[in-house]
Amino acid sequence: MQNSKIVGTGSYCPELVLTNKDLERIVDTSDDWITKRTGIKERRIAKDGQFTSDLAAAAAREALAMAGLKASDLDLIVVGTVTPDRQFPSCACTVQHKIGANNAAAMDVSAGCSGFVYALSVAHNAIRCGASKYALVVGSEVLSAVTNWQDRGTCVLLGDGAGAVVLGPAEKDTGIRSIKLKSDGAFGDLLYSVDDNITRPVPSLPERHNHTKPFYLVMDGNRTFKKAVQCLEEIALATLEEAKVGVDELALVVPHQANLRIINALAQRLGLPEEKVYVTIQKYGNTSSATIPVALHEANTSGLLRPRDKLLLVTFGAGLTWGGSLVDWAA
Ligand code: ACO
Repeated sequence: MQNSKIVGTGSYCPELVLTNKDLERIVDTSDDWITKRTGIKERRIAKDGQFTSDLAAAAAREALAMAGLKASDLDLIVVGTVTPDRQFPSCACTVQHKIGANNAAAMDVSAGCSGFVYALSVAHNAIRCGASKYALVVGSEVLSAVTNWQDRGTCVLLGDGAGAVVLGPAEKDTGIRSIKLKSDGAFGDLLYSVDDNITRPVPSLPERHNHTKPFYLVMDGNRTFKKAVQCLEEIALATLEEAKVGVDELALVVPHQANLRIINALAQRLGLPEEKVYVTIQKYGNTSSATIPVALHEANTSGLLRPRDKLLLVTFGAGLTWGGSLVDWAA
């Protein structure tokens, strides 16, 4: 059976920056508290009329350009998102149209912050079994549209952004070497949306800040934190074991960016030095399914990744869902 590998990466985060100081004017919080408790300094916010599919399409175009492929070369598009433009049609179909990928099947995957790794698994397996040759995998979110801007426990954490990868065929034992996915709906109450009345399209900025639309995110931060550390460690070890790769062989870990303290706790449990863990949370906050592909693109374009480097992607999110992937870089 053939394998799949990442042949291009891309990202797009909106230009509008919301700093911790800006948030001090919206809720009872401080730059000092947010920095110390989360590691976040600022996040990006989509402007009015800018949808999850717009962010996704921008990231997708960049990933295709790096891969040296045309949109028409794609035969599959999978978008991980919890904030699709509309309940249906899928965000992936809108992206397919926006980038002109007229030969691609398209679908969304809903797996909370694990959406990108779950979507990667769908595309990877489609390539492995020969159903696809080139697949686009995107994590894209406009979380600002589902943020309760009166809840300081969540609104300081979230941001908007998108990241994408293009997958192509690879030799066995190269490229994506393992993907492990887990879920446990018994913990669905830790992090969920209150959805009295599905509100699409995305509310305007004033509506978001005044919180006049009733679709928003609720989280038990403390319990979520503890489960996150436990699940990330478990899935990291299971993913490495399946790929038969040791922690000491890793060149880089790209974890979901939910809280710097969660990332540091994972690094400590795995015995990883700080420089082997890629962190972007200070600039973008938690962009849910977008955090990993955004960070991966940044690591890639900053020249950090060399051929045959072993990368570990690990994630955790609402569901609960969690997952990991061991990537043999561009091999
Ligand atoms: N500014 C100031 N004070 C705050 C803020 C804030 N923004 N938020 C909470 N506090 C206060 C609380 O009210 C509480 O005050 P009290 O002691 O007087 O009651 C105190 O700070 C401590 O609150 P905790 O919730 O215990 O703080 P904690 O250290 O757990 O940090 C946080 C909260 C940052 C939310 C953390 O729990 C966390 O990151 N949780 C995990 C988030 C996560 O992993 N999410 C998963 C994915 S998200 C997704 O899927 C979209």
